[in-house]
Amino acid sequence: MATNTDVMDKLVSLCKRRGYVFQTSEIYGGTGSVWDYGPLGVELQRNVKEAWWRAMVVARDDIEGLDAAILMNPKVWEASGHVAGFSDPLVECGNCHRRFRADSGEIAKGQCPVCGAKDRLSEPRMFNLMFKTHMGAVEDAAAVVYLRPETAQGSYVNFLNVMNAARQRVPFGVAQIGKAFRNEITPGNFIFRTREFEQMEMQFFVEPGTDDEWFEYWRSQRMEWIAGLGITPSRLRFHEHAADELAHYAKRAFDIQYEFPFGWQEFEGIHNRTDFDLKRHQEYSGKKLEYVDPVDRNKRLVPYVVETAVGVGRTMLVALADAYREEDVEGETRVVLSLHPKLAPVKAAVLPLVNKEGMPERARRIHEALRSAGLHSFFDDGGSIGRRYRRQDEAGTPWAITVDGQTMTDETVTVRDRDSLRQERIGSDHVLSFIRERMS
Ligand code: GAP
Repeated sequence: MATNTDVMDKLVSLCKRRGYVFQTSEIYGGTGSVWDYGPLGVELQRNVKEAWWRAMVVARDDIEGLDAAILMNPKVWEASGHVAGFSDPLVECGNCHRRFRADSGEIAKGQCPVCGAKDRLSEPRMFNLMFKTHMGAVEDAAAVVYLRPETAQGSYVNFLNVMNAARQRVPFGVAQIGKAFRNEITPGNFIFRTREFEQMEMQFFVEPGTDDEWFEYWRSQRMEWIAGLGITPSRLRFHEHAADELAHYAKRAFDIQYEFPFGWQEFEGIHNRTDFDLKRHQEYSGKKLEYVDPVDRNKRLVPYVVETAVGVGRTMLVALADAYREEDVEGETRVVLSLHPKLAPVKAAVLPLVNKEGMPERARRIHEALRSAGLHSFFDDGGSIGRRYRRQDEAGTPWAITVDGQTMTDETVTVRDRDSLRQERIGSDHVLSFIRERMS
């Protein structure tokens, strides 16, 4: 993968062409940094979330799922510190009225990076990143509510509900996948930083004093999970937050960074949030958020929290950027998305070699058998076989099953591997087990 904007442009155009990602409300010129996921995008998104949920909730006894609301009592955001502190410094150009982050570096020489006006930039002002709206019929200050900027707070205010309902004991975790909103000043780089996005966050509640150990545990678990998605290890690294980078709630934090075509950037965050959030919610709500040891009832504590937080869209961008390749095959450029089979939106394409001699009907039967077994398959009989292979390569489909003349006599098909381009013949009734074996 070349590390230049060229690759990003190609990826953006492939994503539109193949139905991964569309600009939202495109016919009206779009809206700032919000994207829609098309037929393949929504499958990739579901596969990302499924992989995360399986690892975090299904495979473990000590993590429970939750789906808290986006609109919460506004006091939540006072307690969490977001009303007072979730802000970026912003300057405005007096000429073109565009706004930029004061700490972005691009305005270093006092010049507007868009219109070029000199000495027209305002003094930095703090700009809160939360979207505000009103609840109910009256649009006054008392009716202000916020669109949540992180899912985490829903897990904190439900900490006792989940623990008691699921009969958990510390240490245990709460996992959530859900939308979050931030009025980012400098969004961009396609789906890397958007104003509406989805997060996969897990809050692990532990006894104070054991938090450093759990923090290390989750740091390595998360890197392992990412490696399991087939992401190139040399494009991943840890970045520890220095004291001046730490969020207001964090004692220690690591980013897992990925080397995007536009440079090394945060992919996922692992934070030791201490007892900051639970104690603040106790203070602001007046309700106790304590863990009482069921054996020793005198042992009461406010747990520390180790958090793992990653964006769904960001994971998709990592997977797509990592998978994108251009190869020279017999003098022609082949564009291929080498997505891990468990992330690939479509697992198999079923193709009749030609549109006659019963091949389309035979191919369609194989396709339908795969679909009814729960495997996402795609039937394509349009255009030359070479063209159809190329389309599937770009879409990231790992296997192409071709029904040809021989199929009609001996019930075998060819299976073409997207990455190696190797073809092998197998019995048509073995297609499902062949794919399932390789996926696992
Ligand atoms: N609860 C902690 C938290 O929200 P964060 O580092 O601000 O921490 C966690 O966000 C993850 O959410 C990031 O690592 C990134 O993957 C994703 N994320 C954050 N802001 C985003 C945005 N504007 N667009 C897309 N993804 C974003």
